[in-house]
Amino acid sequence: MNDAAIDAIMRIMDAAFDPQWGEAWNRNQLSSALALANTHATLMTMDGTAPLDPIDAVGFAVVRAAPGEEEILLIAVAPSARRRGLGSALLAMLVAAANLRGAEHLFLEMRENNPARSLYEQHGFTPIGRRRNYYDLGDGARMDAITFGLDLEQTLRS
Ligand SMILES: CC(C)(COP(=O)(O)OP(=O)(O)OC[C@H]1O[C@@H](n2cnc3c(N)ncnc32)[C@H](O)[C@@H]1OP(=O)(O)O)[C@@H](O)C(=O)NCCC(=O)NCCS
Repeated sequence: MNDAAIDAIMRIMDAAFDPQWGEAWNRNQLSSALALANTHATLMTMDGTAPLDPIDAVGFAVVRAAPGEEEILLIAVAPSARRRGLGSALLAMLVAAANLRGAEHLFLEMRENNPARSLYEQHGFTPIGRRRNYYDLGDGARMDAITFGLDLEQTLRS
């Protein structure tokens, strides 16, 4: 992935994730992940299309693929572009792409109180696990992570 695309993702990342939860990645984490052959990013414009120039992106997702399953590592939409269906469109694209690559399951992890939960549930994800005290909120406070899973075969058949 080129520098302009990394810049675009970092710009959205920094605006989208509230620092109090410690969920955002830094540039090094992002570029190291995207240097791996099995990890890739999807960018989206305000129109719900893939940007010709990454500067036009307002949303992104990062996905890691393994044989038979994929994991959504990050998904975010810039605050100024929210509640217009872009997060939902990104998620639908990730589901379709994972299915095309032959995955049977799609996973993601979120902090317990993330309102994104309703978005995931609308797309058929269900909670399948809990990692206790996974997020370090500072000052000794911690929060659980919930793992959500989607059975692609079942979802796309129904
Ligand atoms: C989660 C996120 C990607 C959703 O993006 P979005 O473009 O606003 O999502 P959509 O407009 O497609 O929302 C679709 C539906 O999901 C639900 N939803 C999305 N965001 C919500 C929120 N903050 N609170 C409650 N419901 C929400 C709603 O039902 C919404 O439909 P509606 O607007 O018709 O009510 C965005 O809020 C974001 O970037 N959050 C910060 C980063 C983050 O926490 N990412 C997830 C990490 S696991």
